Amino acid sequence: MCGIVGAVSTRNIVPILVQGLQRLEYRGYDSCGVAVHASSLEAARQGSVPGGLQRARSTARVAELLEQVATEHIAGATGIAHTRWATHGAPAVHNAHPHFSHGTGADANTTSAGRVALVHNGIIENHEELRAALQARGYVFASQTDTEVIAHLVDSHYSGDLFDAVKATIAELHGAYAIAVVHKDEPHRVVGARAGSPLILGVGQEGSEHFLASDAMALAGVTDQIVYLEEGDLVDLQLGRYWIVGKDGAALTPAQRPVRTVQAHSGAAELGPYRHYMQKEIFEQPRAIADTLEGVAGIVPELFDGAGVHGEPGAAAWRVFKEIDSVLILACGTSYYSGCVAKYWLEDIAGIPTQVEVASEYRYRTSVPNPRTLVVTISQSGETADTLAALRHAQSLGMQHTLTICNVATSAMVRECKLAYVTRAGVEIGVASTKAFTTQLAGLFLLTLALAQAKGRLTDEQEASHLKAMRHLPVALQAVLALEPQLISWAEDFARMENALFLGRGLHYPIALEGALKLKEISYIHAEAYPAGELKHGPLALVTSAMPVVTVAPNDALLEKLKSNMQEVRARAGVLYVLADADTHIESSEGVHVIRMPEHYGHLSPLLHVVPLQLLAYHTACARGTDVDKPRNLAKSVTVE
Ligand code: M6R
Repeated sequence: MCGIVGAVSTRNIVPILVQGLQRLEYRGYDSCGVAVHASSLEAARQGSVPGGLQRARSTARVAELLEQVATEHIAGATGIAHTRWATHGAPAVHNAHPHFSHGTGADANTTSAGRVALVHNGIIENHEELRAALQARGYVFASQTDTEVIAHLVDSHYSGDLFDAVKATIAELHGAYAIAVVHKDEPHRVVGARAGSPLILGVGQEGSEHFLASDAMALAGVTDQIVYLEEGDLVDLQLGRYWIVGKDGAALTPAQRPVRTVQAHSGAAELGPYRHYMQKEIFEQPRAIADTLEGVAGIVPELFDGAGVHGEPGAAAWRVFKEIDSVLILACGTSYYSGCVAKYWLEDIAGIPTQVEVASEYRYRTSVPNPRTLVVTISQSGETADTLAALRHAQSLGMQHTLTICNVATSAMVRECKLAYVTRAGVEIGVASTKAFTTQLAGLFLLTLALAQAKGRLTDEQEASHLKAMRHLPVALQAVLALEPQLISWAEDFARMENALFLGRGLHYPIALEGALKLKEISYIHAEAYPAGELKHGPLALVTSAMPVVTVAPNDALLEKLKSNMQEVRARAGVLYVLADADTHIESSEGVHVIRMPEHYGHLSPLLHVVPLQLLAYHTACARGTDVDKPRNLAKSVTVE
């Protein structure tokens, strides 16, 4: 998704800006660009590069942007850069950021004609009316983006002070934004603002240079001194100093926006022996689960203090767990499916009524708030706009008990929730989420046990037995990963198909949903999942020999019912691909392909059954030759609504 990097320095900042984009590019983007103030660099003033704003934009990879800036001798000590994921206007050079005010009108790839250059993450909802008003005043638009209106607005408000112009501009914007802006008359200044999209400030070498970025990861290796900007903040970066103004217009003190030392991962993880990051991440799951469980000697409330992020004593979690009488889970995509699994656990083991809602729906419907609800957000990135908005909506309804299960300790989600369980999947690069999902499930199972304990529903023996099963998970996962050759063989069949059905029951229905999501996301095969009992209520009409039906068949209380559903498929010549536990007595036969799962795993079985489905999707996508790690139209971190 869109990424921002900006800098004010005394050295040529272009390599840092572009490398910052490279660290963010795994999140998905369709164009990229950089603009610098050429006259900000002493060398540039004396050399061949003319002063003023210079930019380069591309719809190719960031690596090619790097070549382009070298070829075109673009250099400067002040600049902004961006990766764009198209919302308004097609992926094209003229829609790529940075946008100039008084764009040349042409879609020239490189131009020095801009007065203002601006990059933006988010969506401006009133862009149409702003565009009409600006056009009436003579502004000429060079793109179809909502962003370009902001550049022209800044220009229209400019009378010698960029900070004042940006302040006046944001007062006219409705929607979500993080922006970074430079002006041709102020060679050592970048102004930023955030509302609804993340933006951080990085303090660089001895405080003499400063950076802006949409994520600390963009600045890995450049600075680990980070200030997290908050909603409504405006920030002014100049050489050797910066200041931040809050939404009420008052200057903020260092105590209000402290500099934190963060350990941002560079994102440049090595592929090692793997073909793709997704494959690597699937195979990292035993390690990721082991890391997530490291040091978990027992179910203690301290587990939910966000690894010290809030400095909250575990007692706070304990008080909350005792007080709440229901759980509301808010999440999107794969994270939503992990929440769906958790609902079964929370109601069965902890006896707590649990509701799971797609975050983008929850925020727009009228619901009945219960202040004694524990609101649980689940997110790999911790920056998903829909989930953050749903969290804030729940808070606005008076639900103050908030907890997140999140993979990024420095994310907005962790900062905005009172309690946090930070999973240790490590950075996940593949757009299709894999290890983040299984570590979320591990965190959610621990949360279930903690709530069961708080409600007096967990004996010491039960706790010990559940924890023993969890600790055995890495070994059990290794055994499942060893099934890869059989999944490759299934994938050869699936690669020729255009549709697939996934069936599961109970705890494994969300696993069927996740299997279908993985397949469609990266192989572009249309896939749907149903609770197997629903088959006869409609989808059975689709079943023919050209419709593979993947069935998740653990040896649980619903096995016999599931076997009946499988018969319904076979009777219509449907071909079954079954993941069956050892003692289910489901055997391969004509039209029935069985992969035998190593062992039945009780409540934790979903963590094992999802892995073959990840491998099936992965190898099917490889066989179809798709871009596995960066599937079309998708982004890793969805920071727009
Ligand atoms: O970062 P989050 O977990 O909040 O992201 C939520 C979804 O966008 C994400 O799970 C998406 O569905 C993945 N591409 C699934 O593989």
